[in-house]
Amino acid sequence: GKPLVVAIDGPSGSGKSSVSKAVAKRLGLAFLDTGAMYRAVAWHCLNGRINLENAAAVEGAARTIGLEQSLTPDGEYIKVNGINVTGPIRTPEVTAAVSAVATNLGARAELVRRQQDIIAKSGARIVVEGRDITTVVAPHAEARLILTASEEARLRRRGLQLGGAQTDAQLRELVLARDARDSTVVEFHQAADGVFTVDSSELDFAETVSAVLTVVRRAV
Ligand code: C5P
Repeated sequence: GKPLVVAIDGPSGSGKSSVSKAVAKRLGLAFLDTGAMYRAVAWHCLNGRINLENAAAVEGAARTIGLEQSLTPDGEYIKVNGINVTGPIRTPEVTAAVSAVATNLGARAELVRRQQDIIAKSGARIVVEGRDITTVVAPHAEARLILTASEEARLRRRGLQLGGAQTDAQLRELVLARDARDSTVVEFHQAADGVFTVDSSELDFAETVSAVLTVVRRAV
């Protein structure tokens, strides 16, 4: 088919991941979760006792790590040097460590390069979600959008996702503090020129998916 790259950025708790998968499924496109790659590098550093404060070491980890991940909206998995880390990359420890990778410009350059390679290999028929997809990874994507939601909605969703075991302070750290750290190197709250915004604060899941599909259809 014709190239159809759908680039979706947004803060954590915006519903980006599940919405992006549903969109990929509906359009018959591949799917790439770029956050999983940052998480995998962070997991690898923790697992291999690589000091997260050593920028050169973190960059080196990003360059040498063997990453293999599913590129379909179903059966999500990611492997680091052959080890399946699909579950482990979602722990609070990895989530707390991931900003050290995300704010490392050398590591970012390497992961961006790998992501662009994956897009090319998909035949440019893929939904890619992250923080810098609309601006850095795929600025020429056929459809580019930012999925946002109010702070209140994002905290509520992430809390539900995590089973309600977190205190308010823990939840704020997981969602808002991480976004604040990430925002120092990537802009994902404000839509760049030509990027559409979908605000899901008042929408349910199905409504959000259909709002995104409408943007995609209008853009292509
Ligand atoms: O989306 P997810 O919460 O899994 O992303 C994990 C982390 O990876 C983010 O908090 C951010 O630090 C980083 N990230 C990034 N650029 C991307 C995707 C994720 O910096 N394109």
